Amino acid sequence: MEVKNKIILALDVNTMESAMKIAGKVSDYINTIKIGYPLALAEGLESITQIKEEFDCNVIADFKVADIPETNSKIADLTFNAGADAVIVHGFVGNDSVEACLESAEDHGKDVFLLTEMSHPGASRFLKGVSEDIAAMGVEMGIKNYVAPATKLDRLEKIRNIVGNDSFIISPGVGAQGGDAAKTLRFADAVIVGRSIYLAEDPENVVKSIIDGIKL
Ligand code: XMP
Repeated sequence: MEVKNKIILALDVNTMESAMKIAGKVSDYINTIKIGYPLALAEGLESITQIKEEFDCNVIADFKVADIPETNSKIADLTFNAGADAVIVHGFVGNDSVEACLESAEDHGKDVFLLTEMSHPGASRFLKGVSEDIAAMGVEMGIKNYVAPATKLDRLEKIRNIVGNDSFIISPGVGAQGGDAAKTLRFADAVIVGRSIYLAEDPENVVKSIIDGIKL
């Protein structure tokens, strides 16, 4: 996926009105938007379709899909039919559940991002212990896209080493959760930024300063 300026906007707002407004303010700098449960539950899967139509951007659906294979298939099909270019899938559920999403992605000509380890502190209790195995499973399955945390650079580096330099890693946790974009991009291909942009008085300015910080 070609991510302009290596920044993905996490559009975790509750209304289409504010989603459109914020995306509009940064659309000169950002071509990839992550839509998760907040917007999709508030406004439906149609939110994916509308954002894609309005901004002609990449849409990554952050549904952290984590069910049995049959249900994962249905979730992935619905997500791709709504227009998402990629869906984020949990790895801890095992290879059969992930495979179901990969098959759906292949049928639709779309992508899967495999979630290895999460960015929040609580993830250290359970997910940290298995995240390297999850990344290794992804490699065995031929997966090329991964999610790994910007808040734990040592973990991000470990996961990069496992998935290799040919893989594409997107990394949440920059800004509000404390992660730094430039440091994260030593190991990741793009950063995911939510609150620092969509809660800002001037989202465009925040995006510009992240871009400047990356170039330093
Ligand atoms: P903030 O507001 O913290 O938003 O900049 C971060 C965005 O990323 C999501 N998030 C994650 N998604 N794996 C994921 O797939 C993670 O480890 C992770 N951590 C944060 C979060 O839901 C929000 O949309």
